[in-house]
Amino acid sequence: MSKRSFASDNNAGAHPEVIEAIRAANEGHVIAYGSDPFTASAIEIFQKHFGPDVAVFFVFGGTGANVLGLKAITRPHHAIICAESAHVNVDECGAPEKFTGCKLLTVSTPDGKLRAEQIQPLLHGIGVEHHVQPRVISISQATEMGTVYTAKELKSLSEFAHDHELLLHVDGARLANAAVSLNASLKELTTDVGVDVLSFGGTKNGMLYGEAVIFFNKNMAADFKYIRKQGMHLPSKMRFISAQFEALLSGDLWRRSAAHSNRMAQLLASELKQVPQIQLTQPVETNGVFAVIPREYVPELQKKYFFYVWDEEISEVRLMASFDTTEEDVRDFVDFVREVVK
Ligand SMILES: Cc1ncc(COP(=O)(O)O)c(C=O)c1O
Repeated sequence: MSKRSFASDNNAGAHPEVIEAIRAANEGHVIAYGSDPFTASAIEIFQKHFGPDVAVFFVFGGTGANVLGLKAITRPHHAIICAESAHVNVDECGAPEKFTGCKLLTVSTPDGKLRAEQIQPLLHGIGVEHHVQPRVISISQATEMGTVYTAKELKSLSEFAHDHELLLHVDGARLANAAVSLNASLKELTTDVGVDVLSFGGTKNGMLYGEAVIFFNKNMAADFKYIRKQGMHLPSKMRFISAQFEALLSGDLWRRSAAHSNRMAQLLASELKQVPQIQLTQPVETNGVFAVIPREYVPELQKKYFFYVWDEEISEVRLMASFDTTEEDVRDFVDFVREVVK
């Protein structure tokens, strides 16, 4: 097995600056459960990025952030509209349905992005007691296919949502990658375009663990501290999540790390394009590369570099770059691919 693979940005370790922040926070005693100076400071930094009126809560992981954020804004007779490929639909073991009680209404969309015209047909049952009531549009930014919504697309989705009394939830496990790709600030892709609730990812961008749930209207956050505790995501030693976020967001580490992984994905894509047996299937806009590799080569490649087959039917694989992927990693991998497929 190779030292670094392209299986997932979760397969990377934590960024050394994050580890250093954890070490620095490991002095003495502070009050647990978030009443500590590290958490106060991290929340202030979030408010600098997203605006002073956001309510910010730290949780352990991304599934928890999505599920609890969605729970805070729904009731069990509601429906959550999302892409068929959404993490909330395929990778959370039914937790969104279990904990919110809501039905997920899915939209098939090849690039992972939702558009108003695809959502409109799902709204016919509004006001009819026999049908679940659409309440939230949940999108991923970047999407599971590595594509991004522009600020204009986000604004039009949020306007569509609000015109129909729906809310816009964003799974931002890779929001940093999207912001870098669009050369935008975090605020321009959230606060400024009418997002209601955001799961903000830290883990995939160099943190050890930890994500944030952000509410752009504090009224929606009124019960969240209870929901988080009941949902088993209130970290007692919260200072260690807060210190990591501070490391990521107080300077430009979030941007540097995401820019690096996006750049490595671009390099990987441009190298793979030169291998005639391989076809890229998605535009490479963030840190993921999707490609069809003829299935007879996949097991041999996986012996040295583990990666996931995304769509078995067409032998489409997903390759992810991370903050610590090197140009050499990319070139070694592509050399190995060339050797296997020749
Ligand atoms: C789009 C997306 N959302 C959320 C998550 C968070 O999941 P986890 O609960 O594994 O932290 C992931 C992780 O793979 C993801 O890709």
